[in-house]
Amino acid sequence: MNVETLEDLFGYQLQHAYYVERTHVELLDEMAADARNDDLAERFATHRDETERQAERLEDVFAAMGRQPRASRSRAVDGFAASRRNRIESSDGNEDGQAPPMHVDLGIGLAAERLEIRTYEGLLRLAGRLAYADDVVEPLEATLAEERETRQRLEDVETETSIVDSLEH
Ligand SMILES: [Fe+2]
Repeated sequence: MNVETLEDLFGYQLQHAYYVERTHVELLDEMAADARNDDLAERFATHRDETERQAERLEDVFAAMGRQPRASRSRAVDGFAASRRNRIESSDGNEDGQAPPMHVDLGIGLAAERLEIRTYEGLLRLAGRLAYADDVVEPLEATLAEERETRQRLEDVETETSIVDSLEH
């Protein structure tokens, strides 16, 4: 799509966010199934369900703007999925040749949350400039709060596991 105005940019970013959320549902599904740490498995599974609702919220935003939901490819999120696949296919780092080590999925999970947070912050900045109404702004704010919460929870797991690791070595 041609991006010439702030409205165009908002529409483009919205399509981008929709792609990220839908791709992220699949990624979280895989990471929850593979996680050997119960706490991490539960966080990924919970956020998977949350992410499905976030994609639906974006559909509501498209509807509020009188548009059909459309997804625009995001190379960043494709990169997360590809690097995870490569890690599984390569023999290094995992004993059973299946799931990547925990720190890999934790790193991917955190990188995905940071990408989503930046995306929603950008959308909300544009929505503010464009003076969009609550039916556009509120769903984006609700999702941003959930993404920040998930980032925090994953950072907590990262801190806990690095403390445990350092005690074990
Ligand atoms: Fe997320």
